Amino acid sequence: MKKIAVLTSGGDAPGMNACIRAVVRGAIYHDVEVYGVRYGYEGLIKGDIYPMNSYSVSNIIQRGGTILKSARSKDFRTKEGRQKAYGNLKALAIDGLITIGGDGTFTGAHLFHEEFGMPVVGAPGTIDNDLYGTDNTIGFDTAVNTALEAIDKIRDTADSHDRLFFIEVMGRDSGYIAIESGIGGGAELVMVPETQTTVEQVIQTLKRGWQRSKNYSIVVIAEGEVEGKALEVAAKVREHIVDNDIRVSTLGHIQRGGRPSALDRTLASRLGLGALEGLINGESDVMAGIINDHLVYTPLNEAITKEKPLNPDLIRMVKILNV
Ligand code: F6P
Repeated sequence: MKKIAVLTSGGDAPGMNACIRAVVRGAIYHDVEVYGVRYGYEGLIKGDIYPMNSYSVSNIIQRGGTILKSARSKDFRTKEGRQKAYGNLKALAIDGLITIGGDGTFTGAHLFHEEFGMPVVGAPGTIDNDLYGTDNTIGFDTAVNTALEAIDKIRDTADSHDRLFFIEVMGRDSGYIAIESGIGGGAELVMVPETQTTVEQVIQTLKRGWQRSKNYSIVVIAEGEVEGKALEVAAKVREHIVDNDIRVSTLGHIQRGGRPSALDRTLASRLGLGALEGLINGESDVMAGIINDHLVYTPLNEAITKEKPLNPDLIRMVKILNV
């Protein structure tokens, strides 16, 4: 392996820059030429590919977002798009690719490998933490801490006004951000798509708290919750609870930005270097992950299709701690 390329794709995540840095510096250390691709698969198709050196990644470990930019590419979902991308890599004699992203990114990477035999290794970068084959994904810890900071602030005003707050957090179809920020934020209730919580149960839990003289309540809702998004759940609850002042707060993209936490910087550096060294050592069509503090490689197809269930202990704990 003499020349490789690295890209970030899909939703950005804090720590992606630390991961890019590890790939680039690791490649230089191993005497491998490294190219950056701007705007993910879009840039691969358009040929937006440039050589990187050690200075290309200086002063970025602490920055959120991705210096390589990101995109969700429609064209890469077509065979023609992938063919163009392959042609652009071959024209530069690039013989390996590292993709940093989530399930959409790895779906594309897996196909690309299957169709053209291009060696490709993924590094899991998404705030959702929904990939099988790694305990944590890059960006998850920072996103949880961002959500937590917001919940703490909302708690102050909820307490002052004796209000009930529904706070919606990101995570697409997964409840990882919700469960961790809900536990850390001392929520009365956490609603996640992985377990069923009816509006009736929400009302009962809230009423029980108020009977025990709680003056305000926080409910954290994952955006993928089956009962609906925070606004919908709040509207349903309002039909049954008329005496309480109810407010909704959707945290949104604030959770995607900001300086990566220490944990994310270390994780991203390990995964970037792990992906790079895996590629050099002949790994392909796999994702680098950290499980129980060990670097592991999981087939991309498994990383995107196998379920990574929420720890049931966490779900149980929320119920116990809100008594
Ligand atoms: O996958 C990361 C994520 O932030 C999800 O939590 C969210 O559902 C989605 O991306 C939002 O995507 P976009 O930035 O394209 O609106």
